[in-house]
Amino acid sequence: MLQFDVVTLFPKMFEAVTNLGITGRARKLGLYQFIAWNPRDFAGNAHRSVDDRPYGGGPGMVMMAEPLSCAVEFATGRQRSNGVQRSKVVYLTPQGRLLDHAKVIELSQLSGLVLLAGRYEGIDERLLQQHEIEELSIGDYVLSGGELAAMVLMDSVIRQLPGALGDHESATQDSFVNGLLDCPHYTRPDKVGDLGVPAVLMSGNHAHIARWRLKQSLGRTLQRRPDLLSKRGMSAEEQLLLAEFQDDTKQV
Ligand code: ADE
Repeated sequence: MLQFDVVTLFPKMFEAVTNLGITGRARKLGLYQFIAWNPRDFAGNAHRSVDDRPYGGGPGMVMMAEPLSCAVEFATGRQRSNGVQRSKVVYLTPQGRLLDHAKVIELSQLSGLVLLAGRYEGIDERLLQQHEIEELSIGDYVLSGGELAAMVLMDSVIRQLPGALGDHESATQDSFVNGLLDCPHYTRPDKVGDLGVPAVLMSGNHAHIARWRLKQSLGRTLQRRPDLLSKRGMSAEEQLLLAEFQDDTKQV
């Protein structure tokens, strides 16, 4: 069972992930374990403070290395006594490498993750020098803290755990699984205002439907995320489909 230990000043925020929806159900099924550690409980000073002003001046506060270090060691120690041989420690920060599908798959195959959610301007750099910590970002924007980023990571990892999704929620059809964006989806009724449903989806011809879906995926990926397409490359058949997509969408 995957163990998540999270070091955070706001353990309650994680209830959104651990109690609700697919990720809540997965926890109740025992697919992962979650424990939050508050660095304040590891603060050595009388005021239980966990942050201080930055050396060199400037705005904001910096989280102190010591309470975070104690919390991380406590978390990895707990995981070790629960059978985790090697915990991976991840610090969520905009300075990190971008989280992507390949990284999510890699993390979902581990047995113990310790997530470090920072607040304020950042954490004392020496914590990152003392421990083996991987820095990950969820996008090129700044959040008020690492908690939401840690929850994004948890959600994306948990949905990959065997048994987390029901049959009708298969992860194998998700965007990015084949390096492409997902195709458009339609459900009842067959008319929304004056908008219908593409005829091929009503045809019952599964080969045609699969071909249409792949064509839409290729087209959308080219229009919205050409970077993904150049990274991935295309087969001759896919190049043909994409040319067809461009033909289809040419304005008459
Ligand atoms: N903390 C603040 N912003 C973040 C981001 N974009 N990704 C990960 N952690 C963060």
